[in-house]
Amino acid sequence: MKKLQAPRGTLDVLPPNGRRRLEIVAIADDVLSRAGYQPLETPVFEDTEVFARGVGESTDIVQKEMFTFEDKAGRSLTLRPEATAGICRAYIEHGMHKLPQPVKVWSHGPFFRHEAPQAGRFRQFTQVDAEAIGSDDPSLDAELILLLDEIFERAGTGPRRLRLSSLGTPRTRADYIEELNGYLRAREGELSEEVRSRLDQNPLRAFDADHAGTQSVMKDAPLLLDRLAPDDADHFAEVRGLLDAAGLEYEIDPTLVRGLDYYTRTVFEFESERLGAQAALGGGGRYDALIEELGGQPTPGVGFAAGIERMLLAAGEADAHRGIDVFVAGAGHDAFLLVGQLRGKGMRAQMEQAGRSLKGQLKQADRLGARWTVILGDGIEVKDMESGDQRPAASLDEVLGMVGA
Ligand code: HAM
Repeated sequence: MKKLQAPRGTLDVLPPNGRRRLEIVAIADDVLSRAGYQPLETPVFEDTEVFARGVGESTDIVQKEMFTFEDKAGRSLTLRPEATAGICRAYIEHGMHKLPQPVKVWSHGPFFRHEAPQAGRFRQFTQVDAEAIGSDDPSLDAELILLLDEIFERAGTGPRRLRLSSLGTPRTRADYIEELNGYLRAREGELSEEVRSRLDQNPLRAFDADHAGTQSVMKDAPLLLDRLAPDDADHFAEVRGLLDAAGLEYEIDPTLVRGLDYYTRTVFEFESERLGAQAALGGGGRYDALIEELGGQPTPGVGFAAGIERMLLAAGEADAHRGIDVFVAGAGHDAFLLVGQLRGKGMRAQMEQAGRSLKGQLKQADRLGARWTVILGDGIEVKDMESGDQRPAASLDEVLGMVGA
């Protein structure tokens, strides 16, 4: 028979990692809800056009990485590769522009990209995502960056580098791309084959090239940051001013390229040295033209997403287990009812459920890190697992008192 395995690039989350993922989600909920971000969920699949228009036709995500399929009615659907486009689709569909602005929402769940799997890169992965839609106030950009930094801090991801830039408006960007293209064409002979072949699609990629010739051409290349319109430059200065005031360190990186087309103005990315080649913990930016692109009224927005698997990789191994309060040795109705009572009082309680001998059960209590073991036999004995003391109890009620329930 064929050996069944999880599909390539997917992950089974086994204990104790399942708990750690819940902890990250709880941290995100705590940090984000205090800042007014409310939970929102969108479907795991959408009309393919949401991403084609939202993320952008020219991106790797749309061109190569989407899990796209047809439903029985022949509609093209796609497993979501990211959250922002779907959330903006929902904002438009539910007339959320009528709510007090900005609409602040956050979400977490699985995302899908058909990438070559490697350490920290999966075909199904999990993101925490936050968006503030309906205002272009620079305090939102700065707020989201600070909230993301706080999530990383509390998740224990360790030191990280924040890269920050601004892309201006689509118009500025188009003019700049034309200028950059002209510059690159003039020195085409010095560029790598790969960069040359993609000049018309995405000349910005040249900034990322490993090729020495290309790198030396890029040293003198014009930078988008130097071409920002005054409004956009002011907006960026305000974002930076707020981050400075909050004492968060960052590097201005005018070559910061994000893999999604919808960005305008602020873009940012956090990286960790603890991760290998896939160093990005999370990132995001402003997308002031996206909602209009998806068919809504012109509406600004800004947001971030962070990979839960990457946060856990950077944070390192978890404590294997927390231990339990009470292990009840000896099967039967009394054991069953006692663990129920203990759980009802908020205690972590387990009983024997695999037919072990008494000796095996005491070993199991040890493995589980039980604080107390209750032995139900001819009588009732309560063992303090820290001191090793063992004392008889007259009734199950007395047991509850002895273990502090
Ligand atoms: P992104 O940079 O494509 O942004 O993804 C955000 C984070 O998701 C990455 O930094 C990484 O931690 C994680 N991630 C992405 N792809 C993978 C993968 N194949 N395997 C494991 N982790 C991965 C976005 O998705 C934007 N929607 C962020 C945003 C929200 N911008 C505005 N609002």
